[in-house]
Amino acid sequence: MEPVKIGLLGLGTVGGGTVTVLTRNAGEIARRAGRDIHIAHAAARAYDPERINGLGDIGRITEDAFAVVDDPEIDIVIELIGGYSPAKELVLQAIANGKHVVTANKALIAMHGNEIFAAAQEKGVTVAFEAAVAGGIPIIKALREGLAANHIEWIAGIINGTGNFILTEMRDKGRDFADVLAEAQQLGYAEADPTFDVEGIDAAHKLTILGSLAFGIPLQFDKTFTEGISKIEAQDVAFAAELGYRIKHLGITRRTDAGIEMRVHPTLIPHRRLIANVDGVMNAVLVKGDAVGPTLYYGAGAGALPTASAVVADVVDVVRALTSDPNNRVPHLAFQPGELADTPVLPIDEVETAYYLRLTALDRPGVMAAIAGILGEEGISIEAIKQKEPAEGETHVPLIMLTHRVKEARMNSALARIEALDSVHGDIVKIRMEGLEG
Ligand code: HSE
Repeated sequence: MEPVKIGLLGLGTVGGGTVTVLTRNAGEIARRAGRDIHIAHAAARAYDPERINGLGDIGRITEDAFAVVDDPEIDIVIELIGGYSPAKELVLQAIANGKHVVTANKALIAMHGNEIFAAAQEKGVTVAFEAAVAGGIPIIKALREGLAANHIEWIAGIINGTGNFILTEMRDKGRDFADVLAEAQQLGYAEADPTFDVEGIDAAHKLTILGSLAFGIPLQFDKTFTEGISKIEAQDVAFAAELGYRIKHLGITRRTDAGIEMRVHPTLIPHRRLIANVDGVMNAVLVKGDAVGPTLYYGAGAGALPTASAVVADVVDVVRALTSDPNNRVPHLAFQPGELADTPVLPIDEVETAYYLRLTALDRPGVMAAIAGILGEEGISIEAIKQKEPAEGETHVPLIMLTHRVKEARMNSALARIEALDSVHGDIVKIRMEGLEG
């Protein structure tokens, strides 16, 4: 049988990794897929021919990505350019030309996935995106297929390797934020715009996809709450550790009676949880299903070969399905297209979590009582309090409090009242906290 012909868009970190994997493991991949797979046509704007020739076998290379998606020989287009445009136009054109698409582009799927999947459905082609979330971890397959029996309750994931690398290095080695970020960029983990990593936008793209797959709702990136790690201070990392917690940048999506929570923010989690010990550039996704209980998926969330592993697995899936009835394939968003729900995504004010608070208060009798009084009046229950010794000659002391769960709006109203007290100095640091109990 003729080999399946691939059109590859992008020969950067992941594109190069994909050529390497398809070449190096060609024999075994063909045994799994049932056909040989050949990269017949690739597009790249600026590349080093020596590097590309060293990676493996590519038929032709062009600078014009549209020439690849319009090439009648091509069966499957792999989009590894990233970003919104021209990736979106290229993917839609490939679909219009009746080609299947494999992409690692989380921004594209999170923002334009609804339109892209509708176009693919119409044309009877597949758009596969395993590599878009958590790199090499097969979390899309787990949610869409392995956990299909479950009512998913919640997901909590470390889904940005760069952010996790930064938090880990800051905690373990006391390294500087900027210095660690520069290293992540050098290693090829960081996004083209690294604020996407540190401000949580990359994680929010991925969480948007996970939330849709878990709960059968359309992709709604604009409703995902996002808070980055750039304001996390070394002292909060240290206080959290003293109290038995670690700070991780988590993407959390949860089903509640009122709606669906979708949020990315720094989070205190008990240090004994397996996911609290996922360090460096590694990713992990904890999924709680009603039948299976908690399940944890761990692996490399970025990098050339791990991401290529997911890209090529999608290619194998598409090749296996080439002759199947388009209406009986695994649905793009796990639920049948006509079965998506309109359950609302909750605004962050409506979300209920526990909190870590750090405030700077005057070291004088009655101050703690005034603060605790306000929390009490707002119905917020305190779980733990820690006061540090005042530094030599200092009149103010750091005061750390852990609270029980309360709605964000209620907490914000209490904090505004506490910040207005004469005895409290500056802004209060507020970090959300989750137990992640199975
Ligand atoms: N910048 C991303 C990360 C790459 O650091 O996880 C994978 O999406």
